[in-house]
Amino acid sequence: MTAEIINGNEIRKAILEEVKAEVAQMKEKYGKVPGLVTILIGANPASISYVTLKVKTALEVGFKEIQDDQPADISEASLLALIDKYNNDPEINGILVQLPLPKHIDEKKVLNAINPDKDVDAFHPVNVGRLMIGGDEAKFLPCTPAGIQELIIRSGTETSGAEVVVVGRSNIVGKPIAMMMAQKGKGANSTVTIVHTRTKDLASHCKRADILIVAAGVPDLVKPEWIKPGATVIDVGVNRVGMNEKTGKAILKGDVDYDKAKEIAGKITPVPGGVGPMTIAMLMKNTLKSAQYSLKG
Ligand code: GUN
Repeated sequence: MTAEIINGNEIRKAILEEVKAEVAQMKEKYGKVPGLVTILIGANPASISYVTLKVKTALEVGFKEIQDDQPADISEASLLALIDKYNNDPEINGILVQLPLPKHIDEKKVLNAINPDKDVDAFHPVNVGRLMIGGDEAKFLPCTPAGIQELIIRSGTETSGAEVVVVGRSNIVGKPIAMMMAQKGKGANSTVTIVHTRTKDLASHCKRADILIVAAGVPDLVKPEWIKPGATVIDVGVNRVGMNEKTGKAILKGDVDYDKAKEIAGKITPVPGGVGPMTIAMLMKNTLKSAQYSLKG
């Protein structure tokens, strides 16, 4: 049996439509729209393309968007002052500093300077702590894990009591998604195992998974025979494995051997077109939420 494909592009579109409708309602009721500032330092080509897409999406859903580009040689003090300015700007609900930062700037210092109530990336330690506490405390969820959970929910996968295995323990994906799936609540209540590079028998853990979430950054790490028949497989890996000579575009591969895995899994995300498109959609959702919180006071 071939797995149902979880289409991240379609789910992304549905979420953005929902956000747009809520923005329109907010505008009508309160005469306000959510405000997002994107701060890009320097001219890293990948960062430029990410920020361009974030700005475009924010405008599409009806946000006020400030694109604040700064030179690569901006001082750390000037960047901290800029963040402080937006922390105190009532029109701004979300502050996003695109990473990575130039070497002379302390990334931790910068992320910690963002007001946690405007930290729509959810990278600030206060938001990491809120996620750990769960429930209403978790104001913002980090965007990629939030996108993964949304794909699981909207694909109709049962999570309550499910065995979830997370491959990878990064701060931005593995650790937060593991905690989110173990919490009480919708799309959660799962029994979670985290496996990583020091795990003794990766295959035996993966074989138990009703939901397998792979964020290791190793192409084809997960073999088809490790997948439990009927499992939901979420592949977070985006690995450049070569270049298409005709199009000049990178050939992307996930962490799962997709072609074979889709013959065993019940539902599966493709790469590209699975988790990738979800991250920016969840950033928009966080910015909307932030504006809604601020209106409630
Ligand atoms: N650089 C790559 N991904 C991200 C992200 O999700 N947020 C920020 N701020 N920078 C990034």
